[in-house]
Amino acid sequence: MLQMMKERYTTKKYDASKKINFNIIEELKQILHLAPSSINSQPWKFHFVSDEKIKNELAKVSYFNTEKVINCDTVVVFNVYNDITLFEEQIKKHLPEGAFNYYLTYIKPLPEAEIKAWMSKQVYLALGVFLIACAQLQIDATPMEGIEIDKYDAILNQESYTALVAVAIGYRDQEDANQPDRKPKSRLPIDQIIETI
Ligand SMILES: Cc1cc2nc3c(=O)[nH]c(=O)nc-3n(C[C@H](O)[C@H](O)[C@H](O)COP(=O)(O)O)c2cc1C
Repeated sequence: MLQMMKERYTTKKYDASKKINFNIIEELKQILHLAPSSINSQPWKFHFVSDEKIKNELAKVSYFNTEKVINCDTVVVFNVYNDITLFEEQIKKHLPEGAFNYYLTYIKPLPEAEIKAWMSKQVYLALGVFLIACAQLQIDATPMEGIEIDKYDAILNQESYTALVAVAIGYRDQEDANQPDRKPKSRLPIDQIIETI
């Protein structure tokens, strides 16, 4: 696992000729389906975009990530509910009473922005799960906050959800200068960020 974390990296250049096997994409979907969330709230939706036309439209509204989106195999868009009423209807229907009551007691009284931040945290947790899954399956990935949210939402015809972050997945161009053997990992000193008590 540690070796896997050393070898995974944010891919900056993709080989457009290499396609991800259908079964791997299906496995990644199943993995996202099983991602954990607070009270099992699942306030998310994920798009797997491999359609070239839509992918190219997304590429145009992806700031400095344009080339990655064009040349990757699939763009996975991570979305969160923007309609809290619909979210509440969903959890009322699907969650055990105890979990729904937790929401009513501790989350619902918060200001709207904080409820949305709480939901977004769950989606970012799914992002972490997804990046590790990609590493495990030897799929190269680029998490991207550098996307134009409003334009992503328009292209994907979103009403009840809004995009938060996207991940380009595919296979690296062998010349990608960001590979760990060419650009060693840069992290804060471990003693600074981990305190053992
Ligand atoms: C939420 C999130 C958003 C990111 N957005 C971008 C992005 O838009 N474009 C990009 O090239 N890298 C992006 N990154 C990659 C980070 O810069 C990268 O993970 C960090 O520098 C550590 O490098 P490593 O992933 O290669 O270990 C993002 C990473 C995360 C977790």
